[in-house]
Amino acid sequence: MSKKLVVANWKMHGNLVVNQQLITSYVQKLLPFKNIQVVVCVPYPYLAQAQLLLGQTDIAWGAQNLSKDIEGAYTGEVSVRMLKDFGATYVIIGHSERATAYCESDENIATKFMQAITHGLTPILCVGETLIEREAGVMERVVAKQIDTIIQMYGAGIFADTVISYEPIWAIGTGLAATPDQAQSMHEFIRNRISIHDKSAAQRLKILYGGSVNPQNAVQLFVMQDIDGGLVGRCSLNTDEFEGICRAASEISPS
Ligand code: PGA
Repeated sequence: MSKKLVVANWKMHGNLVVNQQLITSYVQKLLPFKNIQVVVCVPYPYLAQAQLLLGQTDIAWGAQNLSKDIEGAYTGEVSVRMLKDFGATYVIIGHSERATAYCESDENIATKFMQAITHGLTPILCVGETLIEREAGVMERVVAKQIDTIIQMYGAGIFADTVISYEPIWAIGTGLAATPDQAQSMHEFIRNRISIHDKSAAQRLKILYGGSVNPQNAVQLFVMQDIDGGLVGRCSLNTDEFEGICRAASEISPS
């Protein structure tokens, strides 16, 4: 079993004062959990603050999106090089809150995924189905399509040392997480889907679960064979809750 990965997704929350308190207490409280990797994905304007406060710690930081282009007349976009200027090492790609609201296509998401890898950032690709799709029993087909677009464009080997986060849309921010069995079943499906083409890439890929992870359900989720950690929204804004999730990951992670 590999080291667990816990990623905080702050979404569009925070300000300079609140972030300073949150990061300072992350640094203090998460210090004992040396056998896990923690990453904080902040809104773009706070990357410099994250770099300043986390630069000398084991906690990594990243962004919640990036442009598919490198430079040019793209008003409002932020490129991978700009993220790297602020020491970011991870970037969330294709989160459902963006994919739906900003009409991101699977092809766009695939290009961003490649862009991150080419420039040395670890992409965290979000995939997942809606409640209607789950109830219709087509959730695997939906997730397969999201992954297959990348495989078709760039090959399955690209997934080695990257991160996929399975985030059922019905579980995000609802307090209703997937059960450990539901999550494990999808994680296994994802790993197999990549393994058909490239076994080693599938083994080196980390698959996180995201969607209402909290200190109460974290252990049961993280203990599942194909769940390598979590992508945490709401509970990452509360240090005690985030600490509880990191403790759960640390208890299971190899020392
Ligand atoms: P949540 O968000 O933990 O608040 O459900 C997870 C996410 O959207 O990444």
